[in-house]
Amino acid sequence: MADQRDVIEVLEQDHREVEEMFAELESLRGATTDQAKSRRKDVAEQVTIELVRHSVAEEVLVYPKVEDKVSAEEAQHAREEHAEAEETMQRLEKLDADDPAFDDELATLMAEIRHHIADEEGEMFAHMRQVIDADELRTLGARVEAFKKVAPTRPHPNVPNQALARIAAGPAASLFDRMRDLATGRGTSD
Ligand SMILES: [Fe+2]
Ligand SMILES: [Fe+2]
Repeated sequence: MADQRDVIEVLEQDHREVEEMFAELESLRGATTDQAKSRRKDVAEQVTIELVRHSVAEEVLVYPKVEDKVSAEEAQHAREEHAEAEETMQRLEKLDADDPAFDDELATLMAEIRHHIADEEGEMFAHMRQVIDADELRTLGARVEAFKKVAPTRPHPNVPNQALARIAAGPAASLFDRMRDLATGRGTSD
C-alpha cells in the first residue's frame, strides 16, 4: 500500500493524459492527408473512452466522498459538467473528421473539459486534501484504478446520472456485479 498512488495523483495523471491527447488533436487540426484525418478521428475516440471511464470512476467513487466530506454543491456542479461534456462526446462520436461540425464539437469538448479540470484541481481536489486523510486518499486511489479497468467507455447522457443506475444500463450483468463490488470495496485488499 506504501507505493499506492492516492486518488488525487491517479485522477491528475488521467487529466495530463487527456491534455496530451487534446494537444495532438489541435496539432492535427486542418489535416489534409487521409492518414492525418484518420489519426484525428482515432485520437478523438481514444479521448472519449478515457474521459468516460475517468468520469464514471469519479461519479461512482469520488464525488460521493466529496458530497459527504467537502461540499454537496461542488459534487453536484461537477456532475453537471460531466453530463454536458457527455452530450458533446455523443454528438462528436457520430461525425466524420471531414465534417466541419467535427472541429466545432471538438473545440467545445476541449473547452468544457479544460474548464472542468481547472475546477477539480483548483478547488475540489485541494478541498479533499484538507479534509480526507492520506490513508483514505490512497485507498480510494486503489479503488479508482481497479474500477477504471471495468468502467464503461461510451457516453450515455440519457441515462440518469446516478452511479448505479448508470452501470445497470450496461449490457452485462456480470460487469454490473463486478463494478458494484468495486464501488463498495468488496473483494479489494485495503
Ligand atoms: Fe477529473
Ligand atoms: Fe470530473
